[in-house]
Order: sequence, then structure tokens, then C-alpha cells
Amino acid sequence: MTLSEQARNTTPLRKEVPIDKSRGLWITRRDFLSLTGWLAVFAFLGTALLGTIRFFFPRVLFEASPVFKAGFPDEYALGEVSSKYLKSKQVWIVREEEGFYALSAVCTHLGCTPRWLETENKFKCPCHGSGFHLSGINFEGPAPRPLERIKIMLNENGELVVDKSVKFLFERDEWGKPGSFLKV
Ligand code: FES
Repeated sequence: MTLSEQARNTTPLRKEVPIDKSRGLWITRRDFLSLTGWLAVFAFLGTALLGTIRFFFPRVLFEASPVFKAGFPDEYALGEVSSKYLKSKQVWIVREEEGFYALSAVCTHLGCTPRWLETENKFKCPCHGSGFHLSGINFEGPAPRPLERIKIMLNENGELVVDKSVKFLFERDEWGKPGSFLKV
């Protein structure tokens, strides 16, 4: 056996793993392990980087302001239950002889939107039949408490301003507090 034949028959010291046998590409086991190790490191760093970027740009929900203008007092007729802001703000504005109050149009049972039934002079919830007097007091159906009143005031121009972030609850004896009723 010649020297070159001997060299060809010698067992290789490093084991090789095929990358693409058909094209004759081989890689050593050590290189293969090293490559997978680096891939794991890059995957980890990539995930950490994405986490850091998300930390600096949190998902923020920009909600509409709870405060809105509701026109001038003389735009409301005496005894009117105005549904002008029902769709956009879920608020009724009620004008009585002495002044105004704003009612939340959220049923205190499970949160449906009641309807104002002018002929019956009451708010009626279509979901489970709760009924509320013009004042907001519950009198029929499963609603456990009256509708909530919402802060109503006048701004420096004499316009009505409603602030949905401030609520007055009858059961907490808050309907007498300033803002729960606007005298005009
Ligand atoms: Fe109004 Fe049930 S949600 S009665």
C-alpha cells in the first residue's frame, strides 16, 4: 500500500456532519455545535431587544376626554329629556324648572343602554326590563340601584359642560352635592 493510499484510509480525527451531502458540503461536529450556540445567543438577544423596544413604546389607549360642552341652557326646553349626547357620550341631559341634571345612560343592572319613553315618562331598559323614573330612580325590573348622575356645570361663556369622570350616586346620598344638579 502506497503512502497516499494509507493516508486516504486513515480515520479522520474530527467527526463531520453533512450539511448538504449532494453538494459535498460537510461541517465538523464542533463547528455545528458552535453555530447552533451562536444562533441561540442571537435569538435570545433579538427577543431581549424587542422587549426593550416595547418597554419604551408601550401600547397606550388614547381615550376621548370625559369632559364635553353641551350647548347653552336656552337650547333645552323645559321638561325635556335630551338624547342629543346619548349615542356619542351615553348621557341624557334633563331640564327641569329649577335647572339641569345629567344622567348616565348605563343600566345599573348589567350595563345596557335604556331608552327614554316619553309617553310613559320613564327610562326602560330593553335587556331585562328595568324601569327608571325621570329622576333616575329605579322602580321595576332587576336593576339594583338608580341611574348615576354626572357632573354638570356652566363654563365662563355660560355653556353647559358635562364631566363624565365625576359621578354622583343616589345610594351614597350624593345627589345633593354641587355638580349633581345645576341651578339656572
Ligand atoms: Fe338593564 Fe338588565 S341590563 S335590566
